Amino acid sequence: MDPALNPFAPGSGVRPPALVGRQVEIDAFELLVARAKANTAGDRGMLLTGLRGVGKTVLLNVFSDIARHNGWLVVQFEAQPGDKAGGAARRKLARELQLGARRLRPTPAWSHLREQGLGSISNISVSLGLQGLTADLKFAAGRADSHDLDIDLEELVEDICLSMSKARAGFALVIDEMQDLDEDLLGALLAVQHTAGQRGWPFFIIGAGLPSLPGRLSESRSYAERLFQYRQIGRLDHSAASEALTVPIDRLGGILRGDALETLLEAAGGYAYFLQAYGRTVWETASDREITVGDALLAVELGTADLDQGFFVARWQRTTRSERGYLRAMSQDGEGPTATADLIDRLQKDHSSLTSQRARLIDKGIIFAPEHGHVQFTVPGMGSFIARQSND
Ligand SMILES: Nc1ncnc2c1ncn2[C@@H]1O[C@H](COP(=O)(O)OP(=O)(O)OP(=O)(O)O)[C@@H](O)[C@H]1O
Ligand SMILES: [Mg+2]
Repeated sequence: MDPALNPFAPGSGVRPPALVGRQVEIDAFELLVARAKANTAGDRGMLLTGLRGVGKTVLLNVFSDIARHNGWLVVQFEAQPGDKAGGAARRKLARELQLGARRLRPTPAWSHLREQGLGSISNISVSLGLQGLTADLKFAAGRADSHDLDIDLEELVEDICLSMSKARAGFALVIDEMQDLDEDLLGALLAVQHTAGQRGWPFFIIGAGLPSLPGRLSESRSYAERLFQYRQIGRLDHSAASEALTVPIDRLGGILRGDALETLLEAAGGYAYFLQAYGRTVWETASDREITVGDALLAVELGTADLDQGFFVARWQRTTRSERGYLRAMSQDGEGPTATADLIDRLQKDHSSLTSQRARLIDKGIIFAPEHGHVQFTVPGMGSFIARQSND
C-alpha cells in the first residue's frame, strides 16, 4: 500500500498511531492529577518499569501532556548511562526547570510562582551548573542557594509547591531511564519525595526505567518502595495487540484478515515495538487494501530481518568478543533470567572475571540484574537473536 501513508511508528518514544492497552495506567495518573486539584494529600509518585521497547517513554509523554494540560509544572529529562558524576543530569534538570517554568506563563500558577518559586529556580540553576538562562528570573536571597543539593532541592520543591497548590496544580518531575541517575542526585530526589509526601506538597516523581529500577531505589533509600506506585509495563494482551495493528489499518481503509492478524501477533509476542515494526512491514508488503496471510508471512520475514539489522544488532555490535561469549552462554536459557552461578559452569571462568564482564554489559544497557545472582537481557527477543547469529 502507499508507503507515504504507512501509519506505523517503530521508534523510541514515538507516539504510536493507536495507543492501546495502557488505560489502567493513564486512569491512575489522571486520578493523581484530580486529587491534586482537590488539594488531597497522601499520594505517591509513579514508576513505570519494563524491558526495552514496551512503551514506557510513550506513556511518560502522555502523563506529561495530561499534567501540562492541567496547569502543572512539568520538568522532564532523561538520565544517561555513564553519567556517574551526574553533571549532565544536573544541567538538564536545571534547564528543564527554567523552560518548564516559562511554559507556565499563560496558566493560573504563574502569578503565584512569580512571588515564590522563580527565585529558587534561578538559584538552584546556578548550583546545578547552569548559567546564562536566568536573565529575567529574579533571584531570591537565602532560598535554594546553599549549594548543598539535599537542602536546595527541598527548598526549591517547597517554594514551587506552595505556588502550584494555590493554583490547584502540582509539580511533576518526569525522569526517563531513571536507573542511570547518579547516586547523589537519586538519593536527594528520593529524600525530597519523602518530605513532600509527609508535608502534603503536590510534588511527584514520575519515573521510568528497567525492571531493576525498584531495587536500585531501595538500595539508595530504604523507604523508597513506599514512595511510589510501581507499574510494570509489559506485553500487550491479545485484544490490545490486535487493536494496535487493526485500528491504524482500518482508519486508512485497509482490511487485515484474521489469519494475517494472527500471524503478525504471534511474531510480535505482544511487544509494542515489534508490533510497530511488523505493522510497518505488512503495510509495505500488502499490494491490495485487503491484507492476506501471504502478505503477513512475508512481512514477518522482512520485519525480523529489519529488527536483526537494527534493534538487536545495535546492541550486539557494542560488545567485545568475550562479552559475546557471556551473552551466548546466557542465551542457553532463551530469554532468561540466568543464574550467574550457571555462567561460571558454562564458561569455565572464575567469578571475578565474570563479575567485571557482567558490570560492563550492565553499563552498556544490554543486561540487568532482575534479582540478586541473576542476569537477564534488557531487550525482549535478544536470546533468540543471539541463537540466530553465527559464532564469530
Ligand atoms: N501502548 C502502545 N500501543 C502501541 N504501540 C506502542 C505503545 N506504546 C509504545 N508503542 C510503540 O512501541 C515503541 C517503543 O515505545 P517506547 O520508546 O515508549 O518504549 P520504551 O519502553 O521507552 O523503550 P526503551 O526502554 O528502549 O526506552 C514505539 O515505536 C511506540 O510507538
Ligand atoms: Mg524509553
